[in-house]
Amino acid sequence: MMRLDKYLATALGIPRSESRKKIAGGRVALGGVVCKKADTQIDENDPTLAAALAVEGRALATTYQRYVYLMLNKPQGVVSASRDARDTTVADLVRDAYPRRNLFPAGRLDKTSTGFILLTDDGGFAHDILAPGRHVEKQYIVTLDTPLTPEMMAGFAAGVTLADGQAMAPAVAEFADAPGPGQDPCKARVTLRQGVYHQIKRMFGVYGAGVNALHREKIGPVAMDAALAPGAWRELTAAELAALRQPHGGAQG
Ligand code: URA
Repeated sequence: MMRLDKYLATALGIPRSESRKKIAGGRVALGGVVCKKADTQIDENDPTLAAALAVEGRALATTYQRYVYLMLNKPQGVVSASRDARDTTVADLVRDAYPRRNLFPAGRLDKTSTGFILLTDDGGFAHDILAPGRHVEKQYIVTLDTPLTPEMMAGFAAGVTLADGQAMAPAVAEFADAPGPGQDPCKARVTLRQGVYHQIKRMFGVYGAGVNALHREKIGPVAMDAALAPGAWRELTAAELAALRQPHGGAQG
C-alpha cells in the first residue's frame, strides 16, 4: 500500500508538492469519486488502478508512463554517463525535461563519438539490451584516415585479434557509400555484436588505420531518426520499443 500523493508523484514524474496540490484541488478521482485526501492508502499493485485513477478527467492508464525510453543523438564532447564532475553527460541533456526520473544510458559511446544513445530509467530493459549473451547488433559509420581495404574487411569478418591479444567476435566492415564515383573509400559501415572499450578504434588500429569520426546509426533493428540534430532527442515509438524487445529483432544469437 502507498499514499495517494506519493503514488501520483511517481506515476506522473512530478514533485510530491505538485501531486498534493492536484489532490487538494479536487482534480484527482478514484473510481469516479473525487478524492481530496493525500494520505488515502492505495494498492500500487492493483492492476485496475491505472484505469480507476483519473487526473484532470483522464485515466492514469492513458497518461501514466512507468518508464521512459529516449533516442538521443549524442554530440561530440558529451560523455555517456548519468553524472560527471567535469563533462556534460547524455543524461544532463534530458534532465530538465524529466526532472523526477533517473535516466541513464543503456550502452556507451566514446566522448568523441556521436549518434544513437538509448536513455531509460528501466533497469531491466537496459540489462537485456546490454547483456553480452543477447548480441544486440550496433551499426556505425566510421570515417578512417586511410581507405578501407579488402584485408580489413576480411579481418573483421574472421574476427580481429586486438593488440593486447583479445580476440574479437566476427564483425562486418563495408563501404558506407554505394560503389561509384561518389564513393568515399575512407567511409566504412561497421556492424558489431559486442561492446568492448574503444572496440572499433582498436580493431582498425590493428591495420594501422586511425578513426577520425565515429557515428552510431542503429541499435538492433532501430535506426537513429535522421531528423534529430546533435543533442536532440525524442521518445522511442511503441513500435521501436517492441522491436528492441523482440528476442530476434533486438537481439540475435
Ligand atoms: N567503438 C569505439 O571505438 N568507440 C565507440 O564509441 C563505439 C565503438
